[in-house]
Amino acid sequence: MNTDSANSGGRRTVAWQAVQDHVARVSATPIRRWFELEPRRFEAMSLEAAGLFVDFSKNRIDAPTLQKLIDLARASDVENRRDAMFVGERINITENRSVLHTALRNLTQPELIVGGVNVLADIRQVRQQMFAFAERVRSGDWLGHSGKPVTDVVNIGIGGSDLGPRMVCEALKSFAHPRLRMHFVANIDGDALADVLKSVDPERTLFIVASKTFTTIETLTNAHSARRWFLDKGGSEKDIARHFVAVSTNRDAVAGFGIDPANMFPFWDWVGGRYSLWSSIGLSIVLCIGPAQFEELLRGAEAMDKHFRSAPLEANMPVIMAMIGVWYRNFLDASSIAVLPYAEHLHRLPAYLQQLDMESNGKSVTRDGARVNHSTGPIVWGEPGTNGQHAFFQLLHQGSELVPIDFILPVEPTHGLSAHHQLLVANCLAQGSALMNGKSLDEVRAELVAKGVANTEIDRLALHRSFEGNRPSNTLLLNRLDAASLGALIALYEHKVFVQGVIWNVNSFDQWGVELGKVVATDIGDILAGRSAATNLDPSTQGLVARILAKGK
Ligand code: F6P
Repeated sequence: MNTDSANSGGRRTVAWQAVQDHVARVSATPIRRWFELEPRRFEAMSLEAAGLFVDFSKNRIDAPTLQKLIDLARASDVENRRDAMFVGERINITENRSVLHTALRNLTQPELIVGGVNVLADIRQVRQQMFAFAERVRSGDWLGHSGKPVTDVVNIGIGGSDLGPRMVCEALKSFAHPRLRMHFVANIDGDALADVLKSVDPERTLFIVASKTFTTIETLTNAHSARRWFLDKGGSEKDIARHFVAVSTNRDAVAGFGIDPANMFPFWDWVGGRYSLWSSIGLSIVLCIGPAQFEELLRGAEAMDKHFRSAPLEANMPVIMAMIGVWYRNFLDASSIAVLPYAEHLHRLPAYLQQLDMESNGKSVTRDGARVNHSTGPIVWGEPGTNGQHAFFQLLHQGSELVPIDFILPVEPTHGLSAHHQLLVANCLAQGSALMNGKSLDEVRAELVAKGVANTEIDRLALHRSFEGNRPSNTLLLNRLDAASLGALIALYEHKVFVQGVIWNVNSFDQWGVELGKVVATDIGDILAGRSAATNLDPSTQGLVARILAKGK
């Protein structure tokens, strides 16, 4: 096994240094100049896979640097590590688990034996259970306790048990069932649940309690309150079976909550929370778009999986996107990336990607248990265009931060307002172009002269109105925002994050950082409830607790 990234997670290795050697030269050349130096740059730096097209030519990178980055990926053992994931090796080393979300969308292979079990058979059986249930709800055959069909579905879950399904249901709204309204409750803030309960009819509402562990305090608190509300509104204990189902790996806890295990849709510990939308955690998605579209979502993801597994690293979309990200993060010191979907229905994508990327690669310890000596996962943020153009784009154009951007653009609309779509496309392409090309002082001056502006005024304004350009972006084109394209897009980002985790030599599949906050919240909850004294708290937190308790009296 070649482990050139080794314990250092990349730095001080031959392949890492070979990339480093390119920094000064590439930094001295603006992106637009590369198009003159490399005449076929667009063709060479764009790629089609699984129905997606990515143009990565608007980056601060030239062909030899890209090759060195690919060499770094190869030297870091990306290929073997990728293959280990796909066959179910226990690559989540701190939890001793396989990482098999790719098996959930494996629609073609006859079997995948992991630990003596054909996991594909289990997956397909649960999927059939989900599909059969969803068909009954969607057709109106599944009735509430008073004999009325379901009109509202409330998914109660948080983190991976919320963000993926919520994002997909929003993204594929155009394919949603006309009778079923989807609601998502994640926050422990009672307003989240109260707002939804105000708008639904208990006789026509189906609650999905979605929690891998079935121990998450937010989800259980919301689920218990929803149950209480249902009983208060005239439902009886025996009616709960018609209005509450669970998605979990924890059968005992589900039974303990009072949900009939017959109404439980299981999954497995080798599905990470943030990688779980493809499992029964996607039940709300199946209810919303139906089994056939859900299969399309899986099919799109499977196509990206096949590409990731088989394409040479030089023509491998997730690998290229990952290594461009590594270039900015580790060699050009960019601390954040912006994901800007030019699609209203993708408005939850940045939030979804925040968990995917930041919970996976927000780590500071290598897989070998040493402190990293390099930067790891970036901050991920974003909003749909064109809204963002009238807000934070100013900083992208003229601010002092380097922020690499992913523009995401469906080529065909899913609505009939073609004039809107043309303007949307024009805006997206215009931003990528303007960010890269900028506007020089000379150009600004010439423009102002042509407008007859006085020379003193030109001197005063020219610098303010000029743009240095050289701001990098990828542009990802989807044929249309449909289930297959979305599946491929999500899988692309999953694999990008995976590759970066390999380069940084971190375990992308645990999330110990989240645990500390949970423990401290439990302690403070006990103090607020008067069950214990605030003696263990730091003085600042103690002061806040005292003030809040005093106000509450
Ligand atoms: O936030 C931490 C986390 O463990 C996430 O990884 C997970 O997606 C979320 O909590 C929800 O966990 P569960 O599905 O077990 O309720």
